[in-house]
Amino acid sequence: MFRSYTCGELNASHINQEVTLAGWVQKSRDKGFMIWIDLRDRYGITQLILDENRTDKTIFEKAKSLGREFVIQVKGTVIERESKNPNMATGEIEILVSELTILNEAQLPPFTIEDETDGGEDIRMKYRYLDIRRNPVKNSLLFRHKVAMEVRNYLSNQGFCEVETPYLIKSTPEGARDFIVPSRMNEGQFYALPQSPQTFKQLLMVGGMDKYFQIVKCFRDEDLRADRQPEFTQIDCEMAFVEQEDILNQFEGLTRHLLKEVKGIEVDKFPRITYEYAMKTYGNDKPDIRFGMEFGELNEVTKHKDFPVFNAAEFVVGIAAPGCASYTRKEIDALIDWVKRPQIGATGMIYCKYELDGSLKSSVDKFFDQEDLKKWAEITGAKPGDMIFVLCGNTDKTRTQMSALRMELATRLGLRNPNEFAPLWVLDFPLLEWDEESGRYHAMHHPFTSPKPEDLHLIGTEPGKIRANAYDMVLNGNEIGGGSIRIHDKDLQARMFELLGFSKEEAENQFGFLMNAFQYGAPPHGGLAFGLDRLVAILGGQETIRDFIAFPKNNSGRDVMIDAPSTIDDKQLEELNISVVVNN
Ligand code: AMO
Repeated sequence: MFRSYTCGELNASHINQEVTLAGWVQKSRDKGFMIWIDLRDRYGITQLILDENRTDKTIFEKAKSLGREFVIQVKGTVIERESKNPNMATGEIEILVSELTILNEAQLPPFTIEDETDGGEDIRMKYRYLDIRRNPVKNSLLFRHKVAMEVRNYLSNQGFCEVETPYLIKSTPEGARDFIVPSRMNEGQFYALPQSPQTFKQLLMVGGMDKYFQIVKCFRDEDLRADRQPEFTQIDCEMAFVEQEDILNQFEGLTRHLLKEVKGIEVDKFPRITYEYAMKTYGNDKPDIRFGMEFGELNEVTKHKDFPVFNAAEFVVGIAAPGCASYTRKEIDALIDWVKRPQIGATGMIYCKYELDGSLKSSVDKFFDQEDLKKWAEITGAKPGDMIFVLCGNTDKTRTQMSALRMELATRLGLRNPNEFAPLWVLDFPLLEWDEESGRYHAMHHPFTSPKPEDLHLIGTEPGKIRANAYDMVLNGNEIGGGSIRIHDKDLQARMFELLGFSKEEAENQFGFLMNAFQYGAPPHGGLAFGLDRLVAILGGQETIRDFIAFPKNNSGRDVMIDAPSTIDDKQLEELNISVVVNN
């Protein structure tokens, strides 16, 4: 037997037992006549002790040679510690070592394997296997496993069947670029890696599987951000014979279950807001509702007061930042500079202090009197002690800028408490969005999403106004899931492809298999997919998904540990009939 216990389980009840442990040397303290070693494995740390008087001389000498991260096996007796450590599970005992085997020596690691390491992001990515030995990363992976297990159990208990779908497929449009895989056996032809299993899960519904789920890798060649990876994992789900309400209840149930089981938090029924309301109130379709600072539209009370900037603007909007009336000139200027950064793109910002004595003092006092400013306060919900910040310009752009400011202020004011969870549904997304670059409509969710029947009459006149049976689940300002009720009628699906600018041939060529399937009795169906990485990160109190992925890619989409992507040799290229042109 390699070990009789792990490094995390021995306590006072084991005193006097002979045990065998194995693990890594976390650190050792050599006092000359006495050596203490912290032995670590996934489960914890156990203190070993070697004593000149009680330990065999050769073993004592061997212990002196141990370096950090050496892999060792020890036999010994569990004894009571002289100075106990109440902060450690094994803090009452130590092991008096009688045998010591070095299983593997280790080079000095390039960063310390401690909770607070001295290693920067790049070096930790390169030596990710060492990073995984650290508690924060290890615990994130264990946490991810726990969430995934809860998801599997819950959905299985609800009658969902996990079905695997292929990775080598034909392109599915989810809005990003595909990763492409050349086919050796079919010269000049390529597979695409799935951006999601969307069409397959719909085909499973046609196949009568009724309730499907899959914890599945998806691949999207898009620009990376803290909440995006080129390969990520979805909890992908689909149900037949359902309406939107059924789906919302089903997956609200799953999320509520996870919050309860994983975080011990009970949440009420999720609020539901429309896309339109979300954009108007938060300037964002994934609002963080843990705090207020809702938008107050100020057009009515700011125009025609001789302030040319507002008069020229399409849209004027304000928010009340709680307790910020005390901001100094310097702090305000810093915030104005912040909104003027190219990433935000505002041309300037107006502010108005709501002093504790009830008076209002704005940066445009020349144009607005107390009565005017009182209206600003009323509309933005400002109270004495608050500061109203106002932005203006093009409606969409200004909303986006104000949304960014709202989030920034909330972060600065400590209003984004990672231990508080505020989930909601955003409903009634537009079916289409206009794409300036290609000069045509794109599906906002994907081309299989059904329009609201009551909006169908707009199809020939104002397609941009058609709303979809599409919904997102939002948690703490992050889109953690999204889905829709699908089109299950061949003719409507064909009409949709037409609206999206596909010719009949293109639609047939790309999606003929789905349209064909719809001829053989497709049930009404719908579903959604959660982003597992995002869900786990947020439940874990963070927003960077990389920390919850064992081997993530860096911001340039590289795995710096295995050095991928990489070139392949000429023989492989030849077999694939690919010639590479390198432009330097
Ligand atoms: P959607 O494209 O909204 O829907 O994706 C579902 C969820 O997946 C997560 N997600 C990502 N997570 C990490 N990195 C990425 N690059 C990334 N892209 C998306 C998000 C998102 O909410 N087939 C549809 C689902 C459906 O209609 O049923 C789909 O894929 O959390």
